[in-house]
Amino acid sequence: MITNHLLLFVVIIIILDSAVPLLTGVSQNDSAGIASSSNSDGKILRRTKRGWMWNTFVIMEEYTGSLDQYVGKLHSDKDRGDGSVKYVLSGEGAGMVFEINATSGDIHAKKRLDREAKAFYTLRAQAVNRFTGQPLEDWSNFTIKVHDINDNEPKFSKETFVATVPEMSDVGTMVIQVTASDADDEDYGNSAKLVYSILQGQPYFSVDPSNGIIRTALPNMIRENREKYQVVIQAKDMAGQMGGLSGTTVVNITLQDVNNSPPRFPHTAYHLSVPESAQVGSPVGRIKANDADVGRNAEMRYTITSGDGHDMFSVVTDGETQEAIITVKKPLDFEGKRLYQLKVDVTNAYLDPRFLHMGPFTDSATVRITVQDVDEPPVFTRNPYIIEVQEDTLAGSSIGMVTARDPDNSLLPFRSVCRYTIDRYTDLERLFNIDSINGTIYTLQSLDREMSKWHNISIAASEINNAGQITRVPVFIKVLDINDNAPEFAMFYETFVCENVKAGQLIQTISAVDTDEPLVGHKFAFSLHNPNFTLIDNEDNTARILTRRGGFNRREMSLYLLPVVISDNDYPIQSSTSTLTVRVCACDSDGNVRSCSTEALLLSAGLSTGALVAILLCIIILLMIVVLFAALRRQRKKEPLIISKEDVRDNVVSYNDEGGGEEDTQAFDIGTLRNPEVMDTNKLRRDIIPDMLFPFRRVSPIKDNTDVRDFINSRLQENDSDPTAPPYDSLATYAYEGNGSLAESLSSLESAATEGDQEFDYLSHWGPQFKKLADMYIAKDTGRET
Ligand SMILES: *[C@@H]1O[C@H](CO)[C@@H](O)[C@H](O)[C@H]1NC(C)=O
Ligand SMILES: *[C@@H]1O[C@H](CO)[C@@H](O)[C@H](O)[C@H]1NC(C)=O
Ligand SMILES: *[C@@H]1O[C@H](CO)[C@@H](O)[C@H](O)[C@H]1NC(C)=O
Ligand SMILES: *[C@@H]1O[C@H](CO)[C@@H](O)[C@H](O)[C@H]1NC(C)=O
Ligand SMILES: *[C@@H]1O[C@H](CO)[C@@H](O)[C@H](O)[C@H]1NC(C)=O
Ligand SMILES: *[C@@H]1O[C@H](CO)[C@@H](O)[C@H](O)[C@H]1NC(C)=O
Ligand SMILES: *[C@@H]1O[C@H](CO)[C@@H](O)[C@H](O)[C@H]1NC(C)=O
Repeated sequence: MITNHLLLFVVIIIILDSAVPLLTGVSQNDSAGIASSSNSDGKILRRTKRGWMWNTFVIMEEYTGSLDQYVGKLHSDKDRGDGSVKYVLSGEGAGMVFEINATSGDIHAKKRLDREAKAFYTLRAQAVNRFTGQPLEDWSNFTIKVHDINDNEPKFSKETFVATVPEMSDVGTMVIQVTASDADDEDYGNSAKLVYSILQGQPYFSVDPSNGIIRTALPNMIRENREKYQVVIQAKDMAGQMGGLSGTTVVNITLQDVNNSPPRFPHTAYHLSVPESAQVGSPVGRIKANDADVGRNAEMRYTITSGDGHDMFSVVTDGETQEAIITVKKPLDFEGKRLYQLKVDVTNAYLDPRFLHMGPFTDSATVRITVQDVDEPPVFTRNPYIIEVQEDTLAGSSIGMVTARDPDNSLLPFRSVCRYTIDRYTDLERLFNIDSINGTIYTLQSLDREMSKWHNISIAASEINNAGQITRVPVFIKVLDINDNAPEFAMFYETFVCENVKAGQLIQTISAVDTDEPLVGHKFAFSLHNPNFTLIDNEDNTARILTRRGGFNRREMSLYLLPVVISDNDYPIQSSTSTLTVRVCACDSDGNVRSCSTEALLLSAGLSTGALVAILLCIIILLMIVVLFAALRRQRKKEPLIISKEDVRDNVVSYNDEGGGEEDTQAFDIGTLRNPEVMDTNKLRRDIIPDMLFPFRRVSPIKDNTDVRDFINSRLQENDSDPTAPPYDSLATYAYEGNGSLAESLSSLESAATEGDQEFDYLSHWGPQFKKLADMYIAKDTGRET
């Protein structure tokens, strides 16, 4: 018996140390197929050929067999096969994943294992005495390793990669690196050893088999030929051998543009046309050079390098379309020049020095521009016209002339191409006229500078051939002054002189104005010839009036009217006489006015005569009003029947006149109908006595109505004997319908139900007034009976 513990590895197990091991693991299948022997008598076997851990079992992952997979066998050399030893397993997955036959020590895996989920399990085992429970051995640790198989394919991180590379890159320029990963065991076998290959995208691109770097494989790949490439890369494990798993990815590769295409005009010559009326800055046309590049590399600059239209036109680049826009730089004139030629150059805005050899990166084209004729309105020789005219110019004289020409017919002489008119809204007073053929302006009236210094009119010229072509020009007519106005007092002067004044006393300073406007300014001369007053010219267009003597007397002369002659120095000299009114007043010693003569005031005051006239007028108006009033009153007396419509009683009409029938045309007076009372009494008002409202009652045919009398007498007696009656005479009213009326009761209560039952014979007894009625009804009755 071997006392020390012995471990036997029956098939694949190698015993490393005979002193430590306790259990013997047995694995059924060993790929290495190493021959081994179980030594039943416990001899120590030393197998060092393999560097495997002694205490490691190996199990296949993804085992698909129907039975539980056998892992190995534990065996204690204390087990004599009599069933007294019991094997106990614990640790990772014990009982759940791995199960041990307590009697035999066989370990089975109960589940399919995935190495990629868990690569190895650490377990412990012990042998105990089945009956006593005493451990026969120490715990022994061992590992069950899951053997990898190639069950995972390589996977790329993205389904599609996107990459760009500049066009015309050198061969071998790296584009992008794509890598895949494989979940299988990298350390064991080739299950995770990947090899990259290109499935699609040759011959343009290549891939490095070991690291997945994609490089360009063709020189001079030009974007203008083909821009987008789709490359498919495959990663295969098992080092690319047959049977390996593979995964693919798509790489979208776009070539980036470089400026390798020069701009080129598709034509060498262009022809454009423009109306001569085109405004400065307006476009004439567009031309475009082609550039196969895109974006920034296709941006172009256009310039006009030469040509006779060099300074008439300019060119700019449309930033969006990269077209050349040729615009008008200076006003064009068909009559001046009809054809221009330009040389337009184009070049790329951004050049790439690497590709300059593919150039030249500039091109030029010839542009011919035809100027088109436009029917233009007439053009005046001047704008505006300023005409000066003397104030005293006679009506009908010519004051100036305007001339317009038709720019379309500039070769023709000025004659009769335009027709001239004055815009009448600018000459409402019709002061001027124009000769419609030769443009001579005439005055129609004499002009007065003092009325208006300027006459600003508008003259229109229209083409004879095309009246729609019309041009207007302002004509400023300045009326030049001549001395046609005399100077006069600047205002109305009225002053006074004191009775006790001394000679040489200043009583008034006067000044003058003149509406004329001489070039050098006014110079007025004043003169006064009077024994009582004198005048001193101040030489500044004013003059002082002084007393020549003292001792003025109101009674002698209360008012002096001084004629002052004022003349100007212009040619012809104009002079006028203005009158200064001087009143004589009583003054105190300081020269303050006490009173001026009342008679003088009355006489002189134009205001009091005006007041008198006003008073007189008032009186006349009053008189007229009185007379009118009286006349009106008389008129009203004559027409007393003018009846106010507000008189309510007008609505009550009463008459007791019976007409004489339709035949009686004479007796009927409509005035009577309207107001019978007035006709009789000639009253002013048509008041109606209330009792007249009740028309005459026909006298009852029964003269002696004893029935009513008895009724009244008995009522009178009742009242007389009534103790509660008032002590004065009072009126008591009773209603009584007597009986025994010849007409019987008129109530319908007792009438016969039908008309036919009624007897109308009594109508004939009622008298001649009811004869007509009786005739109607009785005749009707008898008629029905027959
Ligand atoms: C072990 O090998 C036998 C035959 O050699 C085979 O039938 C059995 O399936 C194998 N077991 C395992 C787990 O590979
Ligand atoms: C354990 O092994 C013994 C002997 O090989 C066998 O008789 C017994 O049926 C097994 N027990 C189980 C539960 O498989
Ligand atoms: C076995 O493993 C356990 C824990 O898993 C540890 O405590 C013990 O020391 C180990 N025994 C040996 C002999 O290595
Ligand atoms: C790659 O290219 C294909 C074909 O041009 C296209 O359908 C796909 O959308 C592209 N993928 C990406 C991510 O750009
Ligand atoms: C303009 O025409 C009128 C009438 O036809 C003529 O009397 C006048 O002399 C002409 N004036 C000029 C400047 O020709
Ligand atoms: C006419 O034109 C002149 C010069 O432009 C200007 O001084 C004047 O005020 C104008 N008069 C009227 C009435 O428009
Ligand atoms: C001057 O005054 C005298 C006396 O007051 C008067 O008679 C005479 O008419 C006056 N002369 C003039 C021209 O007013």
